[in-house]
Amino acid sequence: MSEAAKNFITPMTMQAVSGNPVHHQLFDCQAEAAMGHIELAKWADIILIAPATANSLSKIALGLADDLLSTLILASTAKLLIAPAMNQQMWANSAIMNNVEQLKKRNITIIGPEQGEQACGDIGFGRMSEPLQIVEQVLSLVNELGVSSIAERLKQTAPGLSGTGLSGTGLAGKSILITAGPTLEAIDPVRFISNHSSGKMGYALAQVAVAAGARVTLVSGPVSLKAPQGVSLTSVMSAKDMLDAVKQHVDNCDVFIGCAAVADYAPCEVAKQKIKKNDEEMQISLKRNTDILAWVAAQASRPFVVGFAAESQNVKEFARKKLINKKLDLICANDISQSSLGFNSEYNEILILNKNNQETKLPVASKINIAASILTEISLNL
Ligand code: PMT
Repeated sequence: MSEAAKNFITPMTMQAVSGNPVHHQLFDCQAEAAMGHIELAKWADIILIAPATANSLSKIALGLADDLLSTLILASTAKLLIAPAMNQQMWANSAIMNNVEQLKKRNITIIGPEQGEQACGDIGFGRMSEPLQIVEQVLSLVNELGVSSIAERLKQTAPGLSGTGLSGTGLAGKSILITAGPTLEAIDPVRFISNHSSGKMGYALAQVAVAAGARVTLVSGPVSLKAPQGVSLTSVMSAKDMLDAVKQHVDNCDVFIGCAAVADYAPCEVAKQKIKKNDEEMQISLKRNTDILAWVAAQASRPFVVGFAAESQNVKEFARKKLINKKLDLICANDISQSSLGFNSEYNEILILNKNNQETKLPVASKINIAASILTEISLNL
């Protein structure tokens, strides 16, 4: 952590949330005794700075070394990735642009920044890229560099993986089918019924499963995410399409994870032409969609079946009912009454229930870390 980073959160918080040791001082006797800054520089295969301030970025461009971060970068031969985050005017400043050019010339990868609303209220380029997008770039680099075990790397960075089977053979070679995102149920050629699922949770599961060595097929409703590298993607629209795609891919799969927010109902009929607004009130008749998760669990030779439960009240009780009624092996319950978690958020908080009445609480964490913990739990229950 740089000095600037410590103004936002403390090293203690960072350590608790990440489950990893945090280095932040250049001259620290204790840290030097354990892993000094030169050792740290030699240890890394890849260095990622996210978010990177205008100051850090410029120091690296100039080769300055006045704190731990800039010193270890100067002392390291590791591939460097920088995900800048700063005010849009600062990013547009020619001083920063020149420094970015210098960095690119030195084969340093610049990820983003993205356009959008900033913490200061400005709108423009300067927002840090989405964490999932950053992880994606790191993982593809891991593949490119041929680091022998991506899972080993993840084990060091995702606390859910520590000391579990995931880093070893637990999921390696297994075939995992995952559904993600919303479904979209057409009413007429322009309108549809859908929900707020962004696909982030399901895509994070796919990404970590691939990293753990599994063969992953992702059946996804319409989302704006790119399929993680190494994942075989089938894109669908409606619940019916999703069911058909699952039927096509479920044979011989070892684990099925139903993370999609599948519409429970679809219009009985899809109007061929755009419906005109002739009346003050109108009714649309809906019919129940097949429950994909329950369908998979009812198959004679079924995979290990993991469901999700998106609940706004009585979370544990309703999730347990779903676990039993749908004959699941595990269910991941999320409380979707909190707008900062679950649907369309970078974060989630999950309660995992299994058939033997055991429960595992996953406290608030990024969806990548939650995915790692869920897959760890699956590998332990397989
Ligand atoms: O996509 P994100 O923005 O990242 O948000 C993640 C999430 C909140 C969507 C995810 O964590 C989640 O909870 N997914 C399940 C949402 C849901 O539809 O829950 P449910 O309680 O309505 O359904 C229970 C289970 O049955 C789910 O596993 C669902 O995939 C499955 N189901 C439901 C209906 C249906 N016709 N077929 C199904 O398979």
